[in-house]
Amino acid sequence: MRETILDINMNKVKNPGLKVLLITGGAGFIGSNFIRYEIENYDNVVIINIDKLTYAGNLESLKDIEQKYGFSSENQEQRYFFIKGDICDRKLVDSLLSGKYFKDRGIEWGTHDARLMTPDAIINFAAESHVDRSILNAGPFIDTNIKGTQILLEAARTHWQIRNSKPETRSRFIHISTDEVYGSLGKTGKFTEVSPLSPNSPYSASKAAADLVCRSYYKAYSLPVIITRSSNNYGPYQFPEKLIPLMIKNALEGKKLPVYGKGANVRDWIYVEDNCRAIDLVLRKGNLGEIYNIGGGSEIENIKVVKLICDILKTNSRTQNLSPEIEYIVDPRGQAHDFRYALDCSKIKESLDWNSTLGFEERLRKTIDWYLSNRSWVKKVITGEYQEYYKQIYTRNS
Ligand code: NAD
Ligand code: TYD
Repeated sequence: MRETILDINMNKVKNPGLKVLLITGGAGFIGSNFIRYEIENYDNVVIINIDKLTYAGNLESLKDIEQKYGFSSENQEQRYFFIKGDICDRKLVDSLLSGKYFKDRGIEWGTHDARLMTPDAIINFAAESHVDRSILNAGPFIDTNIKGTQILLEAARTHWQIRNSKPETRSRFIHISTDEVYGSLGKTGKFTEVSPLSPNSPYSASKAAADLVCRSYYKAYSLPVIITRSSNNYGPYQFPEKLIPLMIKNALEGKKLPVYGKGANVRDWIYVEDNCRAIDLVLRKGNLGEIYNIGGGSEIENIKVVKLICDILKTNSRTQNLSPEIEYIVDPRGQAHDFRYALDCSKIKESLDWNSTLGFEERLRKTIDWYLSNRSWVKKVITGEYQEYYKQIYTRNS
């Protein structure tokens, strides 16, 4: 029999350390970085990635992983399996958690208990993630972020608990949330994990609702849930609708750099790899039922971020001829635009010994370098849909 992902899974019997991770939304920005982080740092990890491939999901971001670890007889290590699917599809989610998905496709399970091949952990990245889009159309945010999360929780409850009569402690449900659930801060102060939830956009409201549903599944069913709430991520493979990649893309295309209002809003930037490391620690060592804030400790006004991008581009030999121009536009978010986010991260620092690394400017340089070296990735992910969206947000407000 040829070696398959399932053979590796079967070794689970011999290798109790082996983990099968079900990653949702793994073709997006943070999910794809997390898959790369896990697969390259642990040789006993098998990843099943389920992603609906919305405009934000791009298999281009995982091409190298698919080539090296994909489910193909040419690969020595088959540890990555992609499924195009929706987390709102209960039947599909159920079949993944029960092992039926692989059985139905005629993949040999041998004489082993099929349940051994099911995910040990679900890490839920899948979401509609952009504030501006949520203001244009909240519907998909409610569906994926709230209903989709509940479907995953319910499937986990059903399948994990039938394996054991007592609450499952080997499994983990890691829900990836955001600092935006806490709402907006003034010039001072920081949110802790017990700060009240006070979301202001349909995006953050849907994330806050999902957090509460996760909490209820921990309380009501002892489902092994842990929530992470991170600040604004930046780094490779971020879709160019978010501030940093959008500014880089526009500058390279000779377009203006659209700053909302006066650019005075403040975000706390975290390099995506630092977040992946934190999520990994939470997955392996976090306490059940807990919430962990994950912030970069780099609070910066938007306008300063944009000016720094311009400065870095001007000093880079590949882009020194560019002369990016900032354009202040009417804020499309209105009252839903949170002024400032800042996180108190002492909990994860003290209990899991996590910290962010390097400074913002150094990481931003690295990010810009990545976008300069991967212009074809940007071209491929920008579809007709993106052009339509860009017109909707930016032409009416300039
Ligand atoms: P992203 O928009 O880049 O990726 C989301 C992924 O989810 C895409 O691949 C998309 O195709 C997939 N998806 C959407 N709906 C789906 C569905 N119904 N079923 C299956 N897949 C679906 O988002 P991101 O920036 O990578 O964010 C990942 C998670 O982290 C989100 O939950 C987001 O709320 C959270 N988060 C992001 C940031 C940030 O700065 N990007 C900060 C804090 C928290
Ligand atoms: P964004 O990257 O969308 O993240 P979030 O809204 O989730 O924090 O935006 C970061 C900040 O940058 C936010 O204050 C809005 C602002 N912004 C602009 O000024 N211009 C833009 O074109 C975009 C996309 C964002």
